[in-house]
Amino acid sequence: MADSYDRVKTDVLIIGAGGAGMRAAISASEGNASVTVVSKSLLGKAHTVMAEGGIAASVGNVDSKDNWMVHFSDTIVEGVYLANWRMAEILATEAPDRVYELEKFGALFDRTPEGMIMQRAFGGHTYRRLCHVGDKTGLELIRTLEDQTLHRNIAVFDEVYITKIFSNDKGVYGAIGIRFRTGRFVVFDAKSILIATGGGGRVYKTTSNSWESTGDGLGLAYDAGAVLMDMEMIQFHPTGMVYPPGVKGLLVTEGVRGEGGILLNSKGERFMKSYSPKKMELDARDVVARSIYYEIQKGNGTEHGGVYLDISHKGADFIKRKLPGMYSQFMDFAGVDITKQKMEVAPTVHYQMGGIKVDPETCKTNVNGLFAAGEVASGLHGANRLGGNSLADILVFGKRAGEAISKYIKNAAESSVSETDISKEMTRVARYVNDANGGTNPYLLVEKLRDTMQNNVGIVRNGNDLSKALKDIESLKHEYNKVAVRGGMRYNQGLLTCLELGNMLIAGEAIVRSALLRKESRGAHTRSDFPKKSREWLKNIIIEKSSDGSMSLDAVKVPVMPDRLKQFVKEEGYE
Ligand code: FUM
Repeated sequence: MADSYDRVKTDVLIIGAGGAGMRAAISASEGNASVTVVSKSLLGKAHTVMAEGGIAASVGNVDSKDNWMVHFSDTIVEGVYLANWRMAEILATEAPDRVYELEKFGALFDRTPEGMIMQRAFGGHTYRRLCHVGDKTGLELIRTLEDQTLHRNIAVFDEVYITKIFSNDKGVYGAIGIRFRTGRFVVFDAKSILIATGGGGRVYKTTSNSWESTGDGLGLAYDAGAVLMDMEMIQFHPTGMVYPPGVKGLLVTEGVRGEGGILLNSKGERFMKSYSPKKMELDARDVVARSIYYEIQKGNGTEHGGVYLDISHKGADFIKRKLPGMYSQFMDFAGVDITKQKMEVAPTVHYQMGGIKVDPETCKTNVNGLFAAGEVASGLHGANRLGGNSLADILVFGKRAGEAISKYIKNAAESSVSETDISKEMTRVARYVNDANGGTNPYLLVEKLRDTMQNNVGIVRNGNDLSKALKDIESLKHEYNKVAVRGGMRYNQGLLTCLELGNMLIAGEAIVRSALLRKESRGAHTRSDFPKKSREWLKNIIIEKSSDGSMSLDAVKVPVMPDRLKQFVKEEGYE
């Protein structure tokens, strides 16, 4: 059997090659560990590129009053007091250094007239804080980190899909995946594993997420015994494209509003005046997304079910210089010239604040040797993430995770995955392509899952709809046992869908069960049957796989913020 798979020995296995994975790989390799990065698609194709408008860091180049204390406070207040205070403190204090470091790595930021890194306004940030590269900041970040990764001693396996992480009571000891290019299994004997797969936005129908974001890391971690947290907190970015249908959900960067874009309903009214008269279009994402949702519900929506976003008053030169990607995106896909015409936009699922529970200092999970960083990890953003905090997150915590792992492996035992483990997993996966007649079509189940999530677990939720979604997911889990496709192991999209669906069902169930449990409205989680924020619910919802295989939930108090930090939090409400 040993000749039916390939085998790789590594100190560190990093699953996911977005910003967090690559930044961690760089740190871990500096600690002399042997580092292997696996990517489900081609290197460089990551949801990181969909953070377009900038990296939040209080370098104070444009607004000199900005500092880490204000950034910390904004993160806590707009996360509606659910964020882990230590993670928010680490982010706010370390983001400026990570931006300067990225620049040293080769990133070409936009400049102020004085030659400093340019910063723009974003919702919920007190000052203009977003260091940016036009409207392609995530892309520039990935390009830079990819360049660094490829020029270091880091092994990269792209087009590999990890199907299982092996763990026992001592911790993790390896993983197995399929290499789509060859159709062969590949086993990684690894002393430690970092999950950096990004989120699971693809469990929804309308999303800005790239096709890779199917919650793989969440499923792998949950199965390996890791705890998930705050899964009900799903961020709807206020502005996604609504038309034509082929690009529905595609991100329209917050940079448009940051550079002066305004929102209008079909009557031409600037409706944010009635929802958020002070902050208007630059309130936090949960507020703006909800306002757009209510405006559409009131019948003030556009022909294609959105609202208008208009920046044409800024003039063609300004728009083409500051937002070149948005200009060509609307011109190419919708035939809309945004220098003269309004865009049609509506909320789109963009990010999950919840994910794997980690230690704030090291990104360690509760499973020995297993770490998580980036969108797949939870804690930093609480009930609502500020735009630009995700790119800061992946740089800050990617680096920390890589450093912590390189320390961890110094005392970790050699690891080896057994033939029994390998054979069991290969048999499980092969079953999805073994049926000569095919089985239940996995694509149909994916569509059903997305429909129920979109219709019942949206911006505004209620107990009845959530219970319906849970019932649907239970029935999909039953049908999932019968999925199978024809064909072989090489580049078999059907097989990939079978495997992804398992993780999507775990992510979907965790979101719905948590949303049912949280009987209040906070940040991105709005319950029409519990419309108020409740002090009682200043709690994180945690999820584990119990011994009988079912999902077990608990609610635990948010860690208490020390007084040395409380003084910086500008609004009442922490406790
Ligand atoms: O709107 C945007 O450019 C997205 C940024 C982010 O999600 O951080």
